[in-house]
Amino acid sequence: MKGKRLRAAIVTSSDSGYRGEREDLSGPAIREMLEEEGYEVVSQTILPDNQAMLEEYLSTAADEDQADLILTTGGTGFSPKDVTPEATLAVCTRMAPGIPEAMRSASLAITPRAMLSRAAAGIREKTLIINLPGSPKAVRECLAVILPALEHGLRILREEEGNCAGQG
Ligand code: MTE
Repeated sequence: MKGKRLRAAIVTSSDSGYRGEREDLSGPAIREMLEEEGYEVVSQTILPDNQAMLEEYLSTAADEDQADLILTTGGTGFSPKDVTPEATLAVCTRMAPGIPEAMRSASLAITPRAMLSRAAAGIREKTLIINLPGSPKAVRECLAVILPALEHGLRILREEEGNCAGQG
């Protein structure tokens, strides 16, 4: 990573993880991959599959400028309790559909079930929020796809880099 270290927050959405009944392996997998890339992980949290609590966390973290990037894991599927994309849509003012499009597109080469993730991504204030699916395997596969492009996007959002207009 060139320049100032980018700050990341990680949120696992899982009822059983929140209750301490299941070990969260996905949050730590995200942390490991981000730290390898040079990100500073400023917080790592487990929340239940509760839209109001997720919205509260995401909006507060963005409004208080706690992180440049918030990655969520879990709650993107078809279960009635999967509400992470709804919480993300509710708090973002600008969407970034190319990110989940890229994750799903690349993941479909691995499993047709990739189409079952409703993951979203968007921007609130100066913070980019991205949903990842819940399993540690899916987290690793999806992050590997998006990490190469993320730093550039985050620095444009922070106005540390210009956009790409006019660069051939
Ligand atoms: N994406 C990748 N790359 N690898 C996977 O194994 N699993 C899928 C999908 N996306 C998967 C994936 C499955 S099985 C589901 S049900 C959805 O993500 C939603 O997962 P979630 O409800 O845990 O968020």
